[in-house]
Amino acid sequence: MKVSVIGLGYLGAVHAASMASLGHDVVGVDVDAGRVAALAAGKAPFFEPGLDDLLARVEATGRLTVSTDMSAVAGARVHFMCVGTPQRDDGNAADLSFVDTATAALAAHLGPGEVVAGKSTVPVGTAARLAEAVAAAAPGAVLAWNPEFLREGLAVQDTLHPDRLVYGVPEGPAGERAAAALDEVYAAPLAEGVPRIVTDYPTAELVKVAANSFLATKISFINAMAELCEVAGGDVTRLADAIGHDARIGRRFLNAGLGFGGGCLPKDIRAFMARADELGAGDAVAFLGEVDAINTRRRARMVELATEVLGGMVDGAEVTVLGAAFKPDSDDVRDSPALDVATRLAELGAAVTVHDPQAIDNARAKRPDLRYERDLEEALAGADAVLVLTEWQDYKELDPERVGVLVAQRTVLDGRNALSRSAWTAAGWRYRALGRR
Ligand code: UDX
Repeated sequence: MKVSVIGLGYLGAVHAASMASLGHDVVGVDVDAGRVAALAAGKAPFFEPGLDDLLARVEATGRLTVSTDMSAVAGARVHFMCVGTPQRDDGNAADLSFVDTATAALAAHLGPGEVVAGKSTVPVGTAARLAEAVAAAAPGAVLAWNPEFLREGLAVQDTLHPDRLVYGVPEGPAGERAAAALDEVYAAPLAEGVPRIVTDYPTAELVKVAANSFLATKISFINAMAELCEVAGGDVTRLADAIGHDARIGRRFLNAGLGFGGGCLPKDIRAFMARADELGAGDAVAFLGEVDAINTRRRARMVELATEVLGGMVDGAEVTVLGAAFKPDSDDVRDSPALDVATRLAELGAAVTVHDPQAIDNARAKRPDLRYERDLEEALAGADAVLVLTEWQDYKELDPERVGVLVAQRTVLDGRNALSRSAWTAAGWRYRALGRR
């Protein structure tokens, strides 16, 4: 089937390559010429494990073409809308300008019987509004809402083998046609038994923000327990293990530490609160304000802990920050807790050196004032304190003995509860972590 993908960011680029690997003829469109040029050369425009390999395989089949010209999408049966919906500069609401502009540009090239499948995360009510625009531009074309749940770092796997497929479609024959077209696109995952939920637009839109709100709440819940452990003398990692054994709770997403960041969870819970307010249901999700507050308090706590181990004087201290990406296996620094803590310490006068296996270029573009070091051993040399703020495998595998020779003081702060406390303390390190004695 010929499909188009509009917007080739983290979501769209992976979706386009994955759909091509499933045997579809894919046209990807983006207004960013640099991104399009990279993909045209078979290169991922950002770091995502497995994407370069997938692109190389797809390139050999000739099934993926990319363009900056929207007219290239003409004739596709399904058009996937994958543009970003960032937080607005003037508040918590989502900025829908990219969705609106892309939909208007696409409308001019839509034919009857074609399906527009929205994948971007949008405030509930957006799909109904876009459906009118689609119907007005191309009678016989239909809009479906098909939210995406991929995680960065696991995006290829999540796209090819999703936990579930959700279609929001209108009632009646047009909706059935849209669902049938999506079934054809996703024939391979469906054949593997992936559950498929067909519902209305508002439910499909809400599924996405509800899932992200739940995940954010789960993380903030365990981080709230970390705050309690800190004052009561408990160990949040043991607590998470113990409550996680209850299958109703589950151990996943109960890793206490510096909290969540990235391009999705923080802005999605804020946009959800803003939209609920508009709908007169702000009270229903007001707790997400607490979830957000608990999350950002962890960053302040990390700065406090660093100040404490440096004897109350951050000014002039040599601090090595390991990690700039918002999570491992990603080069994404959007709302990165690690970069935020590094910045706060630098503002307090610390000489901060930041290391990250993949995210240095993005971090430098955002915070050019910080000092960056690509060589891990160089980054550690002479440190008064080492802060592990993103749990890259490279950091988990550090040998505390070997690192101990490089630093000025054997002080390590484990912001992700990722290191072996016993191994580091045995090597003579002062080990401090969030939520643990
Ligand atoms: C998230 C959702 O998981 C995904 O389904 C949705 O499509 C997009 O948003 P992503 O932002 O890629 O995906 O990252 P995720 O793995 O969810 O992690 C989000 C943040 O939470 C990271 O900063 C991570 O470090 C943090 N986190 C995660 C914790 O602090 N503790 C945990 O236990 C899990």
